[in-house]
Amino acid sequence: MAPAQAHGIPAVPESGITPVAVRSGIAVEINGERFVHTGDPQMPLLWYLRDVLWLTGTKYGGGHGENGADLVLVDGKPVSAIGQPMNRLADKRITTVEGLAAKDGTLHPLQQAFIDEDAIGCGYCTPGWLIAGVALLKRKPHPDDGDIDQLPNSCRCGVQTRVRAAIKRAAAGKAGQA
Ligand code: FES
Repeated sequence: MAPAQAHGIPAVPESGITPVAVRSGIAVEINGERFVHTGDPQMPLLWYLRDVLWLTGTKYGGGHGENGADLVLVDGKPVSAIGQPMNRLADKRITTVEGLAAKDGTLHPLQQAFIDEDAIGCGYCTPGWLIAGVALLKRKPHPDDGDIDQLPNSCRCGVQTRVRAAIKRAAAGKAGQA
């Protein structure tokens, strides 16, 4: 006899419902820190970064991110932050331009190479170039001009040739050298 019935309490029938954990937010890792987004699940990652976390390095390039200014790394792959709603990013590992440098402030070799080659024009699109360049170097450690020109980033102020030089300098391991 069940214990409840032993005390004259009617037994509660089995519900057949399997309890699931209640999700109170969307957990993401950004630049090595864990955050939980509890707002609109459809909020684009770009607005979460800029307006909630104040990580304003990633830029809005207009439209659907065609010019690459809003690129971030999601699990190591470059993606447009405006095109990624938060509800697609649960438990993803995200790196923004703020996360490229080491914790002690040492710049990523590609950041240093951009400085070495004076590859920053307006600067608005530089974070996107850096993210795309880091991903390219990981995918292809010694890219040529054609590889660089195929990146989704665009530059209207004329530093594209310097961007190429910076990416190739980083690839050659010469960032920070004369
Ligand atoms: S660096 Fe921004 S348009 Fe060229």
